[in-house]
Formats: sequence, C-alpha cells, structure tokens
Amino acid sequence: MKWNLKLSFVLVLTFLSNIAFASKISYEKSLDLLLKNIHPADTIEGVVVASPSRSHPDYFYHWVRDAALVMNTIFDVMESEQNIKKKKKLKKLMYEFVNRVKGNQIASGFWKLGEPKYNVDGTPFTGPWGRPQHDGPALRAITLIKFANCLLKDGKADYVKENLYSPTLPALTVIKKDLEYTARHWSLKGFDYWEEVKGLHFSTMMAQRRAMIDGAKLARRLNDPHAATFYEGVAMRIEQRLKKFWNPTKDYIESTQEQTRGVQKSQLDISVVLGVHHSGLNDGFFDVLDPRVIKTVNKLNDSFNRIYKINGDKNLGTAIGRYPEDTYDGYRTDKEGNPWFLATFAMAEYYLRVAKASNYSKASLGNICLSLKLKHCSNMTQKKFKTLLTKKANTYFERADFHADQNGHMSEQMNRYNGYMMGARDLTWSYASHISALLQK
Ligand code: NOJ
Ligand code: NOJ
Repeated sequence: MKWNLKLSFVLVLTFLSNIAFASKISYEKSLDLLLKNIHPADTIEGVVVASPSRSHPDYFYHWVRDAALVMNTIFDVMESEQNIKKKKKLKKLMYEFVNRVKGNQIASGFWKLGEPKYNVDGTPFTGPWGRPQHDGPALRAITLIKFANCLLKDGKADYVKENLYSPTLPALTVIKKDLEYTARHWSLKGFDYWEEVKGLHFSTMMAQRRAMIDGAKLARRLNDPHAATFYEGVAMRIEQRLKKFWNPTKDYIESTQEQTRGVQKSQLDISVVLGVHHSGLNDGFFDVLDPRVIKTVNKLNDSFNRIYKINGDKNLGTAIGRYPEDTYDGYRTDKEGNPWFLATFAMAEYYLRVAKASNYSKASLGNICLSLKLKHCSNMTQKKFKTLLTKKANTYFERADFHADQNGHMSEQMNRYNGYMMGARDLTWSYASHISALLQK
C-alpha cells in the first residue's frame, strides 16, 4: 500500500513535469506549417504568403523581404536534409521561387525592384505603402546566390547562366538584376524592414553589403571580372557608411539614420540583430562577437524586459519586440506594440551563434558575461561557457513555446500583458526564424 502510494506520487509528478516541459513547438512542426504557406490554394507557383490571414490583418501577399528570408531557410533546410525525396521536394520549391522572382522583376511596378509586395497572382500591389524598400532585392540575391553556388557544384552551369547569372547588361538574369539594382540604390533612402520609417537602415545596408560581396565572388566564378571589381568597390563604400551606425553615446548600433519620414524613435531595434543574422559573413565585420553588437543585444534585452508585463515571469526568457516605442499591435498602428516571435527567436539564434564561435576577444567576453548576468567569466572553461550560452538560448525557445498554441502554431506577436497570440496567424517568418535558430544548434 505504502509502496503504491509512493509510486502513484512519482507518476503524478512525472505527468505534471511532462506537461510543463513537453514542447509544443518543434523543427518538424514549424517546417510543416511553413510549407503550408508556400504556394497555397488561390496563389500562383512560387508565391510565399506572409500569412494565410486574409483579413484582420490581411497578410495574404507575397512580400519580397519575407519571401527572400523564408526561401533562405528553405535552402538551408534542403542542404541539411538527408532524405533524398524530401530534399528533392525542397529543391523544386527553390526552382519555382526562381521563376516567381523572374515574374516579380518583370511585373515590378512604379518603384521597380524596390516594390515591397506583390499580389498572389503575381501583379504588383498598388495600394498606398511604404515605398521603396531596398532590402528586398539584396536579401533575394543573398538567397539565390547560395542556390546558384549549389547548382554550379552539381554541374548545372547551363541553368545558372541562363536563369540566375549572366554578365549581359542590361541585366537579363535574376541575380544580376538584383545586384545591379543594389549597386545603384544602396545610398538612397528607403523604408525599413518594418516598412515604417524612411532613411538609411543598418539591416538593409548589411544585406546590400553581403549581396555585393557574395555577388562579386559569383561574378568572378562566372567570368565577369569587371562586375566583380565594381561590386567589391560598392561593398567597401557601404562598409564605410555602416560603421557610422554605431553610436558611442547611446552605446548601441542605431537602426536608422538620416531619417526623413516616420515616427521619431530611439533607434534601438531588433532589426539590427536581424541584419547581423541575415547578412553577417562571420568576417569580423559586425559579427556576433563584435562588442558593438553584444552591447546592442544587451540594451534590447534590458529594455524589453522592463516594458512588457509578461517578462515579469523570470522562469522564461525575455519576450522581445521590434523596438520599445512600437505602436503596432498586429492589427492597428495606434496601439501598444507587443513582443514578436521572430524577434524572440533572433535572440535564441544570437546566443547559439556566440556559443558556436571561437576566438573571443577580451572585450567580447566581458560583454557576453554581462549579457549572461555573470560577475566574472575569466576563470570559466570554454565548455562551461558554451553550456551557459546554450541554456540562455533555450530560455527564448521556452518563452516562444509557452505562448504558441497546442499544435505549435505561431502568429506574429504575443500580447504584452497576457501573452495571448496577436496579429497575423501562422506568420511564415515566425516559422522560418524558429527553424533558422534551431539550425544553429
Ligand atoms: C504597420 C506596421 O507597423 C508595419 O510593420 C506593417 O508592415 C504595416 N503596418 C502593414 O501591416
Ligand atoms: C509587418 C512587418 O513589419 C514587415 O517586416 C513584414 O514584411 C510584413 N509585416 C509582412 O510579414
């Protein structure tokens, strides 16, 4: 009897802890849900809808930025996939995406490749919007260059030259068009990742720099040395401008400078970290170990920790938003902003990438130590340090998990007071950011 009681007590405990710790979100579920948003019913092939939500809010469009980032994740998933059948399916999606980009580039409206979004029938969206947006072509080039390099390795040079990159000018191929556009528009003001403020943006320029550097390498590989030199020169000029985004007085990297339109804000913004993830090259230029990046990360954590009520629960990682002054609640722009899933995953990805890195300088170590709320890290072994970083990353996954629904669905945001999901349901970018963070494990 006594033994039975003890056993049932243990069973109840195991049951409870399973409820508490079984994740609702996973790599498989996110991938499944993401794939549902690529070419869903009522759309043409290659379309990536930002969300299946067609009203309140209407996100049933193909955004150039979202699509480029999502397909970048699809490419990475494809590369890591062992199952030949699944790999083939993903590759097919990449080819269909190339065709869609071709269509977008031909149909692009008044702002040419700076058009930010397209209807699901492939025509440009013509309603009022924050235009132009210059990050799209650069992000798209980054994704497609990865695909081009993979195809070249597989001996598909003919396809690459015909569709992706040929030296011909005016440009005839998709990557070449995006690179030429980027090389000629990087210094012009446009709207930011959040489509709200006009100016020059850190994340946009990071994407433009990477597009130029990756593009130059591809150009060399495909016998276009003059273009390569031109793109390299542009990359250097972009770097000079990017360095000015560090503000030593504020102690963080500013998201926007030379702003001409949109609300005034502190320019402390998760888009800076997204820029590092999407477009960093691990080459020492604003990489994850750069003390300026770490300081920005620390400021973002502290700020969101303070302003969102749900962050009072210290058992979970900090829920992260876009920027402290945000007034977009997922439906209207005159409300209070909330934490976003993709912003919270960006933090998880950040710590995982730091854990993977080596060669920590003294300055970066000190700042990471602050980030982990530790007094001293100098005597710590590398192994212990990495374990702590991974643990920290996991707190952000746990945070997202807590607010996701039973079946791993994730919207755009979570309510800052009660944690319930807000904004566009099944946001494709939420899933892509979850997967790309997990791929760093
Ligand atoms: C306002 C939001 O702040 C912005 O980020 C969004 O893209 C547009 N509305 C469209 O939903
Ligand atoms: C609003 C976000 O601010 C923007 O970055 C995104 O492109 C659109 N929603 C679509 O997801």
